[in-house]
Amino acid sequence: MNIAKYFLKKGLLLDPKIINNFKDIVFLDEKERFSDSLFLDGLSYKDIIEDRTQVKDIEDEIYINEISNDAKRHDEKEDITDIDVPINISDRSNIKIIKCYHDNARRREVKDFILYIKQRLNFLKNILLSREELQNTLSISKILDKKSRENVSIIGIVKNKRINKTGSITLTIEDLTGEVDILFNKNIEILDEIRDVMLDEVVGITGIVGDKIVFGNKLFFPDIPVTNEFKKYHKEEYIVFTSDVHVGNKFFYEKNFSNFIKWLNLEYGNENQKEIAKKVKYVFFVGDLCDGIGVYPDQEDDLVIKDIYEQYELFAKYINTIRKDITIILICGNHDAVRLSEPQPIIDKKIAPSLFENDNVIFTTNPSIVNICSTENFPGFNILLYHGYSFPFYSEEVDSIRKKGRLERVDLIMRYLIQRRHLAPSHGSNLYIPDPDEDHMLIDKIPDFFVSGHIHKTNASTYKGITLLNCGCWIGQTEDQEKRGIVPDPNRIMVVNLQTRDIKILNFEE
Ligand SMILES: [Fe+2]
Ligand SMILES: [Fe+2]
Repeated sequence: MNIAKYFLKKGLLLDPKIINNFKDIVFLDEKERFSDSLFLDGLSYKDIIEDRTQVKDIEDEIYINEISNDAKRHDEKEDITDIDVPINISDRSNIKIIKCYHDNARRREVKDFILYIKQRLNFLKNILLSREELQNTLSISKILDKKSRENVSIIGIVKNKRINKTGSITLTIEDLTGEVDILFNKNIEILDEIRDVMLDEVVGITGIVGDKIVFGNKLFFPDIPVTNEFKKYHKEEYIVFTSDVHVGNKFFYEKNFSNFIKWLNLEYGNENQKEIAKKVKYVFFVGDLCDGIGVYPDQEDDLVIKDIYEQYELFAKYINTIRKDITIILICGNHDAVRLSEPQPIIDKKIAPSLFENDNVIFTTNPSIVNICSTENFPGFNILLYHGYSFPFYSEEVDSIRKKGRLERVDLIMRYLIQRRHLAPSHGSNLYIPDPDEDHMLIDKIPDFFVSGHIHKTNASTYKGITLLNCGCWIGQTEDQEKRGIVPDPNRIMVVNLQTRDIKILNFEE
């Protein structure tokens, strides 16, 4: 069948660049995975289905002290309200889902993309306008009327980036009134930052007007304010973060995962470790709960459970044995049985009925912000959960991250996205459904924790008071991963002491 026609029948418009990538692939089994995407612009089939994972060696147990003294938290008052989300949550009043996605299934049109980008520009522009240097920002149409040599400031979306033969860099910036080229001289101090700029991100620039061009001298990202409070809880309680369980794959470390569950139930580990387990109040699973079906070519050769219902049934068997005073929060990832396009909704109850049986299990969307531990006198901790599908794109495309170690430096990827206040600022770094009313990938509320998975790395760092955590996984190296040179880092969990904000990494490998 003609590939373009096949997808057209499904209501999908394929970019001609990717049609060649389908020619060796029998894609009928994969059709469901594309059913929510209107455009697959510029992404190859392989990019869409790959779960690129890399791993670095770590010690068996690493103790990470409070990571940075300048990790001060901006004392920002935020409205915390319960959202009516379709989850099986009981009245666990110390947990509030303060941001999640409500699935509003309908056909999307070009105007939805336009409105989606416009409201993102407006939101980020307002953040940038709080910078002193950008107070006198003008629209681009007015800047083009200015006389030469006047100082100006501009806020807009990056439409194009060109590295010139001389070593200088030209950014084309657009706003709702027009576009203008900004030239950054090769000798400018911030040239490396300019080189890292990606298309579609929103930036602020100051410079001097030339003839239909601006000579840029400074670059500003939305970023977050310099922080002044690193929140700590009055009680010694612990959160566990983990992800990428991949139940159903033959490389799933079931025994080790079972030991992790036993540890939570105080049946495994030494006395010190059990003392910590006693004080665990929350466990977060940040996506890829099961391995799924048809996620990558020849995946069936790696599956010991080839039925999606049975995969979730086994996952639920473990989750449902966790002691009931622990609250378990789950989001989906690209391997789970939901659409690939972000934001990803919660899983359908029919696919994983057993996971909906317990009051202490909460599903929320990918991404979400969950607030825990709030009281009358304490605002609680905001935890931004995002599986991390966009991370491989930035590890390859951002010059400084690629040079410093690609996925080995997931801390730099997470910091990069916080600075952009967006989880996937460049079109093509994820698949998404444009919501004209709200960009769910925006980092609009400043979190205390930003937690991800997907690339199977265990990594902890701090940026301006935000604890950045990337969880490990519970799966060994599949042939597919080996072909791509990926060595996973399994059987590890992150444990955070909320009283001190110290982080431990526990290894359950036997
Ligand atoms: Fe994964
Ligand atoms: Fe993943």
